[in-house]
Amino acid sequence: MTVLLDSLFPAATDIPEAWRLGDALEQRDYLVDGQLRRWDGPLATVRSPVWLNTDNGDQQVILGSAPLLDADTALTALDAAVRAYDKGRGAWPNMRVAERIQHVEAFLARMREQRSAVVKLLMWEIGKNLKDSEKEFDRTCDYIVDTIGALKELDRRSSRFELEQDTLGQIRRAPLGVALCMGPYNYPLNETFTTLIPALIMGNTVVFKPAKFGVLLIRPLLEAFRDSFPAGVINVIYGRGRETVSALMASGKIDVFAFIGTNKAASDLKKLHPRPHRLRAALGLDAKNPGIVLPDVDLDNAVSEAVTGALSFNGQRCTALKILFVHEQVVDSFLAKFQDKLAALKPGMPWEPGVSLTPLPEPGKVDYLNGLVADAVDQGARVLNPGGGQSRGSFFYPALLYPVSASMRVYQEEQFGPLVPVVPYRDLQTVIDYVLDSDFGQQLSIFGNDSADVGRLVDIFANQVGRINLNAQCQRGPDTYPFNGRKNSAEGTLSVHDALRVFSIRTLVATKFNEQNKALVSEIIRNRESSFLTTDYIF
Ligand code: G3H
Repeated sequence: MTVLLDSLFPAATDIPEAWRLGDALEQRDYLVDGQLRRWDGPLATVRSPVWLNTDNGDQQVILGSAPLLDADTALTALDAAVRAYDKGRGAWPNMRVAERIQHVEAFLARMREQRSAVVKLLMWEIGKNLKDSEKEFDRTCDYIVDTIGALKELDRRSSRFELEQDTLGQIRRAPLGVALCMGPYNYPLNETFTTLIPALIMGNTVVFKPAKFGVLLIRPLLEAFRDSFPAGVINVIYGRGRETVSALMASGKIDVFAFIGTNKAASDLKKLHPRPHRLRAALGLDAKNPGIVLPDVDLDNAVSEAVTGALSFNGQRCTALKILFVHEQVVDSFLAKFQDKLAALKPGMPWEPGVSLTPLPEPGKVDYLNGLVADAVDQGARVLNPGGGQSRGSFFYPALLYPVSASMRVYQEEQFGPLVPVVPYRDLQTVIDYVLDSDFGQQLSIFGNDSADVGRLVDIFANQVGRINLNAQCQRGPDTYPFNGRKNSAEGTLSVHDALRVFSIRTLVATKFNEQNKALVSEIIRNRESSFLTTDYIF
């Protein structure tokens, strides 16, 4: 394995022409009030997880730089969003749904033109392989299409009146105000857009701050944002969260906080808001999803799902399987098969065909993972796979750790990287207690064939996590299914359908059902004197 890692990083000339980047990108633009403004202040250096093999040894690639806005400048973006919302009187929150959809469609068309630029930057900025980078882009476009479809359906159902207890009513969903949207570095496009797009399409105005890595890849979309929406409806800022986002939250002018990150950061930011009851939050947070392998199991399937579940995008998914509990009757075979599959995963650069293990974007991550391994090894675990835990620069070759026990850090900490801790168990109660006592409650996977065992576990775990996967890895998709979590793992539920509800509130126009009021409502509709009170049907 050492030999393999020796040749891991390419020389600049080894990189295929199509994936070369050219000059470093010095980005100074940010989007406020419908204008791309230039930032002349300090910049943050944007480094790639990719290193290059040079005459002076391995050198980390510098991709460019991005603005480090200060708090005052971030607040100008908030002011623009507040003005565009105009206490609910702005053109955007009052626009007919069909028109808002047209703006989003216009954006989507422009976004699609930037596919290759965004995909290339996904690979260079976060190390996601080509196939998954393309998937992230395409899945995001599909999500926007599906969101438009879901909103049309929602609006069609709201276009009719209801009559209850002599009260005539029309119920529609109305926006909440100004939304702050922040996504994570592992899905800097997709996860951000799964809140940003629903927030916009429901009539909210938005301040969007890109993730800590995956910053430059938003740049090709700034003109599309600028040209597709009225001024101030979408504003894009850059900088350190401590400085920029803290100021936004402390202003009390944020109405919806959409954030994917750690529960600690989410709590700290929420506490800054002076009127917490006026802040709605949609949060995707930490997780330590367990995979539970029962003794009666299709082992090949369990191993195959566990390998992709634990190691796709190097384990950097909130839904990744982060600890495996395997019954002692099958653990030896499980580990042998797991090692075989793991050995077949190809390390390399994100653009190389068939690559699945790539360098990690977070500085210090390799040291952190080494620390987890050392702690486990000190307490009796072994790294089973050849080369496991070897590293070079930003690359860490996955380590299969066994046997893992409760006192080891990796038993509780979310490694968010290519470490696979395996805990052998005899008594299922120890696994049940792990889930019950965990601070997290996103998802889990059960691998087994015995219907009585599996059925019993489903009932035990249904009140512990947001999704139970049977003989399958944990995952978010399909995006029409609810995605949420209990405990410290999430707040609120997202899906194509749910997100539209998260970013809006049901609002009712009601009147006593008599001749006079019927005439009034009919006149308003016939003369098109309201965009809320309307029976318009979107085709
Ligand atoms: O990082 C968390 C993502 O929502 C996981 O999504 O299961 O589709 O990779 P995924």
